[in-house]
Amino acid sequence: MRKATYLFFLAALFSLSSGFAQQKKAVTATDQKMNTFIKNLLSKMTLEEKIGQLNLLTGGEATTGSVVSTGVESKIKNGQVGGIFSLTTPARIRKAQEIAVNQTRLKIPIIFGQDVIHGYKTTFPIPLALSCSWDMSLIEKTARIAAVEATADGLNWTFSPMVDISRDPRWGRISEGSGEDTYLGSEIAKAMVKGYQGDDLSKYNTMMACVKHFALYGAAESGRDYNTTDMSLNRMYNEYLPPYKAAVDAGAGSVMTSFNDINGVPATANKWLMTDLLRKQWGFDGFVVTDYTAVNELIDHGLGDLQAVSALSINAGVEMDMVGEGFLTTLKKSVQEGKVKEQQITNACRLVLEAKYKLGLFDDPFRYCSEERAKNEILTPEHLKVARETASQSFVLLKNQGQILPLKNTGTVALIGPLANTGSNMPGTWSVNSDLKNTISLLDGLKANAGADLKILHSMGANLLTDPEYQKRATMFGRDIPRDNRSEEEMINEAVATAQKSDVVVAALGESSEMSGESSSRTNLDIPEPQKRLLQALLKTGKPVVLVLFTGRPLTLKWEDENVPAILNVWFGGTEAANAISDVLFGKVNPSGKLTATFPQNVGQIPLYYSQKNTGRPLEQGKWFSKFRSNYLDVSNEPLYPFGYGLSYTSFDYSNLKLSKTNFKAGETITATITVKNTGAVEGKEVVQMYIRDLVGSTTRPVKELKGFQKISLKAGESKDVSFKISIEDLKFYNADLKFVAEPGDFKIFIGTNSRDNSEASFQLSL
Ligand code: BGC
Repeated sequence: MRKATYLFFLAALFSLSSGFAQQKKAVTATDQKMNTFIKNLLSKMTLEEKIGQLNLLTGGEATTGSVVSTGVESKIKNGQVGGIFSLTTPARIRKAQEIAVNQTRLKIPIIFGQDVIHGYKTTFPIPLALSCSWDMSLIEKTARIAAVEATADGLNWTFSPMVDISRDPRWGRISEGSGEDTYLGSEIAKAMVKGYQGDDLSKYNTMMACVKHFALYGAAESGRDYNTTDMSLNRMYNEYLPPYKAAVDAGAGSVMTSFNDINGVPATANKWLMTDLLRKQWGFDGFVVTDYTAVNELIDHGLGDLQAVSALSINAGVEMDMVGEGFLTTLKKSVQEGKVKEQQITNACRLVLEAKYKLGLFDDPFRYCSEERAKNEILTPEHLKVARETASQSFVLLKNQGQILPLKNTGTVALIGPLANTGSNMPGTWSVNSDLKNTISLLDGLKANAGADLKILHSMGANLLTDPEYQKRATMFGRDIPRDNRSEEEMINEAVATAQKSDVVVAALGESSEMSGESSSRTNLDIPEPQKRLLQALLKTGKPVVLVLFTGRPLTLKWEDENVPAILNVWFGGTEAANAISDVLFGKVNPSGKLTATFPQNVGQIPLYYSQKNTGRPLEQGKWFSKFRSNYLDVSNEPLYPFGYGLSYTSFDYSNLKLSKTNFKAGETITATITVKNTGAVEGKEVVQMYIRDLVGSTTRPVKELKGFQKISLKAGESKDVSFKISIEDLKFYNADLKFVAEPGDFKIFIGTNSRDNSEASFQLSL
């Protein structure tokens, strides 16, 4: 065993004895029925047939690929396919399933998966945006609708939710997760699993969730996708692992491995991760699938040839091999050579068959193939209404000096920028089922929602990026933004002339949808240069400028924050984004989104997150630099916009934080109550956030940790008392022995409008 692996196993062994408590589930009568059925089926299967069940193939493009391409068809016939993904429509899926259940020896149905990430055809905001709604029932509803539409189109398995915590906005996939926070991320993970799976996986309109990417994928070094992760067990247990566990506890049927190396052992070959932690400690009883060709990639990680890495992976606890076919082509040989026990394969096959059983596929392999449902249940007006509402709830108002927003629905608006007139960029990354051609652009959305007395002018003003090659990389998968071949000066001059004819300028700038997402890491997080120069020219006209910011990640907006009077961050809002942006711009909806990932002042501050440790030399309050303190010479430690931040068209005042008692013991609770008043002129929603700090611990503790939140709605002038109950469970953490404990002592509680601006009080826990 190599040294790094050995050390990792030592650490792992140590953590096994404590860490997450081992969980056991009771065996029900339904389980027993399933067990008998599967035992019987397994007894009839050859080794080859069992290995076949561990093979996941892709059916090609979601909309254009044909499942019955010769390779796939003959593999299905030979019993070499357990699952297929990225094949949609009842007709195509039926065709593949028919081969499986009519032309194979054991007639085992196939499971059909896809990346249904933020909606299906009705596309919701990208997950990072969705998390900014802080609305768990709305988030659950989006997953429910996604499941209804995807199952109507023949699917029964989604590769979602992605629950990777990320504190590095250079990483493009921060867009696919719920941001930086462990507690919020765990709540969202649960809501998504519940939305997809409901309480009965065998129902025709529920689908199996797949929690990904297990694990720590969001902590890739330097924010470069697929890069190494090296992390202490303390940080893993306290900060990065809980959302995966929350999803598993919520009953997620499958887990996907991550591509990255974890402390010397890539996740896809990591026995500690998949067997000791996931199975034994967390009691996971679904199956583990690899990420795309992740087994094969173990060769490049340096763990051996295809046969060796396939054996490593299955022995570590992987059940299904996505696309790479290493299991299919090498496992039999490994069994013959004694490198893999047949029992390991039987067990893996059992878990895959159980998933199919739970989905009801053995009862009716065609239960998800209904043309009727596909016709009636996709892109329904009701789904689109939820999409519009969700999008407007996800936008974050970053600045609104002089109350420029909402816009008046009269006069002239100049809509300018490379993101103003592109429908295909609205759905955002990982929206393979979105109808890109029919998604309306912001320009069309504004026109559709403007009153008769509002005139809308438009010009592009700048290219997305200066370098056409970079632009190609940033506009893949049909998300084109045509280039204008005029000089930058000509384009800006035209835009300035347009701006001068208007009362207010709306600048639609930022990233294209493919500037975030997989393999879309960036080292420079500014709004691209040509767009910034356009913005500068627009500001010089003296017209009020509203920056409508499209982005899949926190950007560095220091200059914009200092110079642009209003900034509305709209992320990528999905099918109904353009209507939802119009709703917010015209004040039909009051924005209430709050950031779930810190916006740094510059890239050098990354990783920057609110729940940091204090260090032994914290900066004194009120100072931004002190010699021999933990800070920078050139920039303060402060973020540009903190976690939890977001403005409204109204204002909220927090007062009178009270605790029901200041000392409590195990078994008791403390109630913290604060009065929140809407002090502005319009109704608004506010996310009231509660953070706790453990002042003295046996290990160092973060300066603040989110432990509760409530989204409330207040009419103008209305006040509400908002209460949070704190129990000993909220104070627990994994100590140096990885035991989940609360320690007696002093705590602080903070309640407020974001992670920075809040009222505080103190209490004690005595045990
Ligand atoms: C991604 C996964 C995705 C899979 C299948 C991979 O490249 O990392 O998130 O589920 O492809 O499409």
